[in-house]
Amino acid sequence: MTEIFEAIKRSAIRIRYAIENDDTGYSHNQNATGDVQLKLDIKSDLIIEEEFSNVATVKELASEEKEHVERLNESGKYLIGYDPLDGSSLADVNLSVGSIFGIYEDDYSGKNLKASVYVVYGPRVEMVIGYDNRVELHRLDAEHVFHFIQLINLDQKGKLNSPGGTQKNWECHHKEMIDGIFADGYRLRYSGGMVPDLHQILLKGGGLFSYPGTSDNPKGKLRMTFEVFPFAQIYELAGGQAIDGHRRLLELSPAHIHDTTPCFFGSNEEIERVKSCYGN
Ligand code: AHG
Repeated sequence: MTEIFEAIKRSAIRIRYAIENDDTGYSHNQNATGDVQLKLDIKSDLIIEEEFSNVATVKELASEEKEHVERLNESGKYLIGYDPLDGSSLADVNLSVGSIFGIYEDDYSGKNLKASVYVVYGPRVEMVIGYDNRVELHRLDAEHVFHFIQLINLDQKGKLNSPGGTQKNWECHHKEMIDGIFADGYRLRYSGGMVPDLHQILLKGGGLFSYPGTSDNPKGKLRMTFEVFPFAQIYELAGGQAIDGHRRLLELSPAHIHDTTPCFFGSNEEIERVKSCYGN
């Protein structure tokens, strides 16, 4: 696993450089889900592919930017599901963006997720690793070295609310729940990038991030393999919960690597609130 974490660190340093120096405009390509790709999406994907190409323990890569998986080493043990530059459309307005990695064995189901990592490219570059029953925060220094900073643990209850999805398409029970949370004094924190939004909730002790099923998108927007499972594992290891409204997200298995699911990540009190709203 160490060599995988090292490849992620090398990728992060190169992606950070690209974000700071490359064109933030669109390419002429579309990805597997039909989104027009930014040049930075393509570059970040290439960087990660290059850095993993020499890691013997990696059997296969599945990128949010590619329709099909890519085989690397038949004898490798791990499958990497990753979003090279999540929230990339925020780079041109200089908001934080991130990379997300799930390290799986056998297949891309939640139960086979062995470790999760994300990197936030903000005013500072931080990397969070969920592995071996704990969540670690690391930070990049001026010499391009990541240092361990602290363990991350969620409180039982937080103060932040990050409600995703187009409000006019929310179900009534979802809208009532979100209104109720705000009525109880929670503050709105939503940038449009799940990496900085979920990172903020983790580091400020707790709260709720939701991306529900909506009338136009009953299965939500966020993808299980690349985005949802890694954060679900990190939230659970930090002492919080991650559900689809009914079940633990890590009990789900995508039929296809690009499948999406409604998702709720948070500290325990907020997730209990979601369960009662969604009729568990
Ligand atoms: P993308 O990678 O296509 O930029 O999508 C970002 C994701 C996620 O990071 C964020 O939480 C969510 O999409 C935001 O979606 P909305 O714009 O619908 O709020």
